[in-house]
Amino acid sequence: MPFPVADRFKHLPPYLFAEIDKRKKAAVAAGHDVINLGIGDPDTPTPKVIIDALKEAADDPSTHQYALDNGDPAFRKQIAAFFKKRFKVELDPETEIYPTIGSKEGLANFAFAFVNPGDITLVPEPCYPVYRGATYFAGGVPLYMDLTEENDFFPDFDRIDPRDAKRAKVLWLNYPNSPTGKLATKAFFEKAVAFAKKHEIIILQDAAYTEMFFDGPALSILEIPGGKDVALELHSCSKTFSMTGWRAGWACGNRELVAGLGRMKSNVDSGIFTAVQRAATVALQHYDEIVPPLMAMYKQRRDTFCNGLKAIGWKVRPPEATFYCWIRVPQGYTSTQTTMKLIDEAHIITVPGNGFGAPGEGYVRATLTVPEARLAEAVDRIKKLKW
Ligand SMILES: Cc1ncc(COP(=O)(O)O)c(C=O)c1O
Repeated sequence: MPFPVADRFKHLPPYLFAEIDKRKKAAVAAGHDVINLGIGDPDTPTPKVIIDALKEAADDPSTHQYALDNGDPAFRKQIAAFFKKRFKVELDPETEIYPTIGSKEGLANFAFAFVNPGDITLVPEPCYPVYRGATYFAGGVPLYMDLTEENDFFPDFDRIDPRDAKRAKVLWLNYPNSPTGKLATKAFFEKAVAFAKKHEIIILQDAAYTEMFFDGPALSILEIPGGKDVALELHSCSKTFSMTGWRAGWACGNRELVAGLGRMKSNVDSGIFTAVQRAATVALQHYDEIVPPLMAMYKQRRDTFCNGLKAIGWKVRPPEATFYCWIRVPQGYTSTQTTMKLIDEAHIITVPGNGFGAPGEGYVRATLTVPEARLAEAVDRIKKLKW
C-alpha cells in the first residue's frame, strides 16, 4: 500500500548530511582510510566533569519525571549568570530564557510558533538548512538573501523590496556563521535591529557558535540597544562543550518570543531530561576550564589546514569563528564535482557549498573535527590530486 509522506516535504531536498553520510559509509565499506571533514560534530569527548554531573543527577530519582514547563530553574539561573558575565546582558530567568532540546529543535518550533501560512521569512543563503525547512513546514515562504564574499557574508537589507519587507515576519540570522565562518560586527547587528524595528520583523539569531571564535569575542544580538525588543537568540551546549548528542541549548531574549516558543514546545515535547539540564548547568559553571583550551586546539587546526591549503594554491579565508573552512573550489569545477573528486580520489569528506543554498556554489565546506596531523595529511592528499 502506498503511504506517501505529507506534501510539506515536497519543497525540501534530501537532508544534506544524510546524503554525505551515505557516501562516507560507502567509502569506508570499500576499505579506504577516510578523513571526515563533513558534518560539524566535535571529535573530542564531552569533558569528564560534565559526564560526572550527569551520572550523579541520573542517580537522583527526582530527575526521572517529566521536565515540564520552562525547564530546571537552576539551569535558567546559570544561563542568566553566564549571559551577564559573557555579554553584559541581564536576562530574567523566569521570562527571558527557555531551555531547548539543542538549538535545532528551538529553531524548528520557533517557526511553528510565529510563522503563518504565506508569511515571508528572510533567509540568508548559504545557511543551515533548518531555516528553510522550518519555514516551509510552517507554510511560510523563504525569501533568500545572498551571503557572498563581495558583501563580506552579510545580507544587504537595502536590496530587499520594501513590499517584501512589509510581508516578512521573520529575519533569520546566524552569527558566527555556518558555513562561512564569519563573525558579526556590532555595526551589522545594529543595522539588523534597525531594519527589524522599521518593518516590525522578528529576528531569530542562531547563536550556536557564539563561543567558538578565534578573532572575537563573538557578540550576542541582545547586546545591541533595542535587540531585546525584536530578537530571540538560540544558544547551544553542543559545539561549545562537545555535547552534540546530549541535546541541550536554550532560547533567550524578547519575552513574548520566549513565551510563544514555550507555548509551541509545551504542545510537542515534554522538556529536556533534568539530569541533562543539571549537567549542562555544570558545563556552564566550568566554562573557563573547558572552552579556552578547546578553542586553542581548533585554532591550531585551523592554521595548519588553511595555511597548508593556501601553500598549495587553494583559496580559503581562514574562519574568524566556528570550526568550518569555506573553501573556493578549483577553477572549472563545481562544488559537487569537487566534493566527489575529494571523496573518490583522496577519501576526504567535505560538503558541497551549493547544499547550503545556491550562493554556496563554487565552495566546499570542511570541518576541523579531526586531529591536526590528519588535517596535514588531508592537505598532502589534496596536493597530489590532478585538477
Ligand atoms: C548553524 C547551526 N545552527 C544550529 C545547529 C544545531 O545544533 P544543536 O541542535 O546541536 O544545538 C547547527 C548544527 O550543526 C548549526 O550548524
